[in-house]
Amino acid sequence: MIIIKTAEEIERMRLSCRLAAQTLAMIEPHVQPGISTDALNGLCHQFILDHGATPSPLNYRPSAHNPQGFPKSICTSVNQQVCHGIPGPRVLREGDIINVDITVCLNGFHGDTSKTFFVGPPTARNSKIVRVAAECLLIGIQTVQPGNFFNAIGNAIEEHARKNYCSVVREYCGHGIGRSFHEEPAVLHYANRDKIAKMQPGMIFTVEPMINMGKPDIRILADHWTVVTKDHSLSAQFEHTILITPDGNEILTITDG
Ligand code: MF3
Ligand code: CO
Ligand code: CO
Repeated sequence: MIIIKTAEEIERMRLSCRLAAQTLAMIEPHVQPGISTDALNGLCHQFILDHGATPSPLNYRPSAHNPQGFPKSICTSVNQQVCHGIPGPRVLREGDIINVDITVCLNGFHGDTSKTFFVGPPTARNSKIVRVAAECLLIGIQTVQPGNFFNAIGNAIEEHARKNYCSVVREYCGHGIGRSFHEEPAVLHYANRDKIAKMQPGMIFTVEPMINMGKPDIRILADHWTVVTKDHSLSAQFEHTILITPDGNEILTITDG
């Protein structure tokens, strides 16, 4: 069942989503050669607590392999890492790209957003994948309006990725979000014929396509979290939390400025 949020719930989602966006804006100037991903984690963790919220990834989804769940407060995914990279001692170098994925829980509601940053100036090697991933997110969001089927999102995204000779990761989806970090629906980012659910005002979900330079196939590292491209090609991702409005959509994970 896809939850339709009430006006009051939407107001609270605006606040949690704005804080997630503010956290991402706060960390951007710190993403420089020489900083460790753990230092980025520490700055975000403190910023989130200072604003009365908690970092949703911390201890998320315990399993037999990871009894503590996800061990850090943000995800940092560098170069060929697709998503769910664990912050640690790795030091960023000029020419790297890094996705920083922020999810906060404020007053019982989650907000989720991510962005891929260049470490140092963009290069000939890394600029295309970041551009295409950013375009794929916006093109996917452009299909969000009442009455459309959810498959419009993935159809538009995969078409754009293919036109640019890039591929779409299939194993991880966007998701409904609200009182839970991950709710229905699963939002596929690849072309599909699923006409199960129609978009309705008051639904809130993420769009977060992971786009690879090479093949779409992924592998999970021995830490049981970090997802990497099988062919070691670069991968980039951008994510927003979106509200369906009566006449289209509203991106909730934006700052005031
Ligand atoms: N923020 C990710 C998403 O966009 C999920 C991270 S789960 C974690 O859905 F446990 F890896 F943090
Ligand atoms: Co996220
Ligand atoms: Co998400």
